[in-house]
Amino acid sequence: MCGIVGYIGKDKKALNVLIDGLEHLEYRGYDSAGIAFISKDGLNIQKEKGRISNLKEKINFNNESNLGIGHTRWATHGEANKVNSHPHKCGKLTIVHNGIIENYIELKEKLKELGYKLKSDTDTEVACALLDYLYNKYNDMNLAIKDFEEIAKGAYAIGIICDDDYDNLYAIKKNSPLIIGIGNNENFIASDVPAILEYTSKYIVLEDGEFAKITSNDIKIFDKNADNINHDIKEFDGSKEDIGKNGYNHYMLKEIHEQPEVIKKTANHYLENNFNELPDFSKYKKITIVACGSAMHAGLVGKNLIEKYGNIPVEIEIASEFRYKKLFLDKDTLVIAISQSGETADTLEAIKIAKENGCDTAGIINVKESSIARNVDTILYTYAGPEIAVATTKAYSAQVELLSIIAYNIAKSSNDINKLTEINNFLDDLRKLPIVMQEILNNTDKYKDIANNIYDKNDIFFIGRGIDYALCMEGSLKLKEISYLHSEAYAAGELKHGTISLIDKGVPVIGIATDDAICDKTISNIKEVKSRGANVIYLTTASLNKDGDFYNEKIVLPIVNPLLQPLVNILPLQLIAYEVAKKRGCNIDKPKNLAKSVTVE
Ligand code: AGP
Repeated sequence: MCGIVGYIGKDKKALNVLIDGLEHLEYRGYDSAGIAFISKDGLNIQKEKGRISNLKEKINFNNESNLGIGHTRWATHGEANKVNSHPHKCGKLTIVHNGIIENYIELKEKLKELGYKLKSDTDTEVACALLDYLYNKYNDMNLAIKDFEEIAKGAYAIGIICDDDYDNLYAIKKNSPLIIGIGNNENFIASDVPAILEYTSKYIVLEDGEFAKITSNDIKIFDKNADNINHDIKEFDGSKEDIGKNGYNHYMLKEIHEQPEVIKKTANHYLENNFNELPDFSKYKKITIVACGSAMHAGLVGKNLIEKYGNIPVEIEIASEFRYKKLFLDKDTLVIAISQSGETADTLEAIKIAKENGCDTAGIINVKESSIARNVDTILYTYAGPEIAVATTKAYSAQVELLSIIAYNIAKSSNDINKLTEINNFLDDLRKLPIVMQEILNNTDKYKDIANNIYDKNDIFFIGRGIDYALCMEGSLKLKEISYLHSEAYAAGELKHGTISLIDKGVPVIGIATDDAICDKTISNIKEVKSRGANVIYLTTASLNKDGDFYNEKIVLPIVNPLLQPLVNILPLQLIAYEVAKKRGCNIDKPKNLAKSVTVE
């Protein structure tokens, strides 16, 4: 996924707006960065491989400009180098692009036959050449864009500068996010609102297939037939503080510590509405959850909770697998997408497939007005606020919280009194949970010590059963993605069927046993690895706290409502991952090869 930003305005501050915007968008990709802007000398293009700081140090900010576009890249086609970086220029057009042109290879051949000489390996340069060809054909940008949308297949958010018309900034949106920011005698385009929040909180969301012609004091929007249309102006419901570090060394640490507040905010929203936004689950015989990465791991936790207390079968589907497998969907299945960004391509496509199969759909989404939010029948927002660190923490927890709220509501409507006695104080427990979480976050030295003992190892294992195994999946991913240390989550009972051969003296194994129904079984598995020399970190709860020689370190967590216990148990795993990555000197907020949301297949 990439980040794009654009500016057109009376003030000649384009360079500052572009770089400031790209710095806020860098979480979307940072393989290369570039800007194109119009100064008194005409069009200037500057681009550099690597981080935005590499580009920034080459820019002369004394250049005055009132029109410019910028791009920060997560490479999809063509390696991360200067020639493949954006902006790309062909003929009279200069563009920045987020997305994928799926038919770029055949288009490239046709454009070469038409005389275009393309220098890069990117689909974006092909898009630029096609737009230029169509512009020369019609001598009209609107008609050129209309044809482009019919010819180019795939996903694209594009900003365009045309050499014949420096009074306009053009933008196209299809299956990749793009907003138009509205200022006073200035307007903006960006992949998300935080990129331009410094300048305005008013914005318009372009819908798929729409394009815009923007001057410093006018915005014209057109549908795919090039007919003029209007959109409501929205107000961003976050603040500049939400997107700053507020004194923390890293966004990830800030966002870990924001979790009590996030849990409170998300709970309050649903409590105040008396859960009336939730679907009527009694209509369905099965729930299928589609998601990727940590969102899928949240779904795994939700599966355990909903099946145990809601007594309805829940399938977890990795969205990229779901899209291409034989499906057994029908109107009795509710398909729930979980996505922090609401822009993950595989999850978005999975929802479209679910709808084609006649299923009702819902979405547990953190970003308002995102593509997935606009494609599901029932939107269930989480209120985690903007999450800047690429590795999710607070958004994952808010997803788990919403799934526990769903499990509670299904259990309550089923009147299964045996289950309800275990969870019957859920509402009070939910209100008290932030205090319990804050207690844990106030005492983090233990996790620094654990990190000091494991940061230099080659392999780390997380083992658990049931809901603890679901937590292992998320704990392992957090560690891998920010510390680059290999780790593996394993069903505790499965380890002895082969992988236990990797357990040697000193190999760290984080054993999670917090479910009283299967705790003893997990402890047996922990003893199996301990007896083979593993360095065991045993994570359990106060009521299951057993002493013994089967661990090297023990983390004992407070007991809360069973529906909320995962929200407490995940905190040590997030903090251990953070401390290990810090000890290893990794780039914690922007890990290599990653992007905040994967808007390509
Ligand atoms: C989370 O730490 C990862 N960065 C990644 O697995 C992420 O959860 C996944 O890409 C799904 O993103 P989404 O929630 O925005 O759909």
